[in-house]
Amino acid sequence: MARRHTLLVQLPALLALLMACQAARPPPAVQEQLNERPIIGILSQPGPPAPEGGSYIAGSYVKWAEAAGARVVPIFYDESREQMLYKFNIINGLLLPGGGAKLQKGHPFFDAADYLVKLAIKANDQGDYFPVHGTCLGMETLAIVVSRNVSILSDMDAEDAPAPLLYNEEAEDSHFFSSLPPSVVRNLQNTPIAMENHAHEWPTFLHIPHSPEAVVMGQEVANFFVREARRNKHKPHNEAEEDDLLIYRYAPAFTGRHMEGREEEADFEQTYLFTGPHARAPRAGAGAGAGAAAAAAGAAAAAVAAAAVV
Ligand SMILES: *[C@@H]1O[C@H](CO)[C@@H](O)[C@H](O)[C@H]1NC(C)=O
Repeated sequence: MARRHTLLVQLPALLALLMACQAARPPPAVQEQLNERPIIGILSQPGPPAPEGGSYIAGSYVKWAEAAGARVVPIFYDESREQMLYKFNIINGLLLPGGGAKLQKGHPFFDAADYLVKLAIKANDQGDYFPVHGTCLGMETLAIVVSRNVSILSDMDAEDAPAPLLYNEEAEDSHFFSSLPPSVVRNLQNTPIAMENHAHEWPTFLHIPHSPEAVVMGQEVANFFVREARRNKHKPHNEAEEDDLLIYRYAPAFTGRHMEGREEEADFEQTYLFTGPHARAPRAGAGAGAGAAAAAAGAAAAAVAAAAVV
């Protein structure tokens, strides 16, 4: 079964150091007005560790975007297209996370991702700068949507195998690699820090690199993505609308907790668990109760997560 693929790690403690590095870099050739309140939409997924009928977002993706200077709005895979379009016009970038969802037309998660990515493509075609980042399953989703070919993916024997990256000829000229610090590009090529999984997670049954080089690499990928998002000008109409949409209305659960009798640990250390159809945000003033409910659901979900880890 396909493992989750990613090149990403992060550690907020390094942020100050990285910001100092950034300041030392020359300013971009063309000065444009950047959006200093970037918001990243993250698409939720069904399946474990989500509660039955609900969905989840791993906390690590939220922190990853936050550490690079963004805030996060959850987009629920099962909400209406109208609601997705409404959120799309407020967010400045889209993150498709890793996970185990089915990538087939007709499956609600894939159809939601397909809809959002096509919105992004259309927006970019019309001169709106809108970045999309895919990690692991998210990257696979992007490959299928952009190529319009459901057979574009092939099986690879790369499970739990951090490795160096082999660059092809186009890599050097790519916007992505030429935007990363040269030391990160070199480390990716020379050290096994690219992991086909959520490298910023902590399960001990996987060999996830947590070396300083791996952490900086993940952080710089986030910096790149959020830097791109700052070029987008979508925004909420007002602060109340922003408050209503932000993921801060929810509390993440500790899903990676070691428990006796569990065969395997869960993949995700912390997870936002959304309950109910379309996982609507709780009403104003009901935040604390909803958080407690989410945490309780988390405890129940954690018990079944081990059996169902992909
Ligand atoms: C889809 O991708 C597969 C694998 O790369 C390829 O063999 C096939 O020709 C592609 N199909 C189309 C219609 O491009």
